[in-house]
Amino acid sequence: MGYPKEKNFVVFMPREKIVIGNWKMYKTAREAASYIEELIPLIEGCKTKVLLAVPFTTISTASKAAKGSPVLVGAQNMNDAREGAFTGEIAALMLKEAGADFVLLGHSERRHGFGETNDFVQRKVVRALQDDLIPVLCVGETADEREEGRTEEVLREQIEMGLEGVPKEESEKVILAYEPVWAIGTGKSATAKIAQEAHAFCRKVLGDVFGKKKAATVPILYGGSVKAENVNGLALEKDIDGVLVGGASLSVETLAKIVLNCKGK
Ligand code: PGA
Repeated sequence: MGYPKEKNFVVFMPREKIVIGNWKMYKTAREAASYIEELIPLIEGCKTKVLLAVPFTTISTASKAAKGSPVLVGAQNMNDAREGAFTGEIAALMLKEAGADFVLLGHSERRHGFGETNDFVQRKVVRALQDDLIPVLCVGETADEREEGRTEEVLREQIEMGLEGVPKEESEKVILAYEPVWAIGTGKSATAKIAQEAHAFCRKVLGDVFGKKKAATVPILYGGSVKAENVNGLALEKDIDGVLVGGASLSVETLAKIVLNCKGK
């Protein structure tokens, strides 16, 4: 079992459920291998796709442990340049060679903790596609922006700017993640209703970018305090194609429960 690959790209079927675990700066390569060995039998037969965004030094070991299984491994960040004198940075080609199939881009912790701008994120999205990595573009408003009634303005800007220069035909290689900043790592997940409203808006903006028909097939994942208990309510919503899970993905049993509970209607 595995994923259909078109050239070097993994192709997702329209609207199939996807769970991405974001390990952030946790787990060594050795820990990753035993996690993945434990995970595979726990999710056997489940149709939901499982992706793990792991630390750079873990990608190679993790992708070997996941080989032949339905689990895909990816990175949490990259630089926008193909190569160059950028001390401490990492390029898409290096991630691909290490075994990554996708990369998180513009995660809130990068935007707010490391000053990443929409422009920088956009250049990374284009680079990822050029070098055969699926970009998972992360967008989301802060608590203040929501209180000020600016949620839609912020989401539109992050999506439109982030996807600038991406050809319409490449829309099927893009994943969008809506992660309200106020919900990340706070234990305070958005309700299914709030998340669905934001996802419907994101899909509308994707329609303006790629055309309505193509926008209907772009996976939009919800992230922010997802747990085994709240995932099903979220996944039942029309425009929620899956979830991006941080803290709760560190336990293999919990991630497996989330995968099994991430079901549509
Ligand atoms: P959380 O993180 O699930 O711990 O809230 C989500 C994320 O950062 O992607």
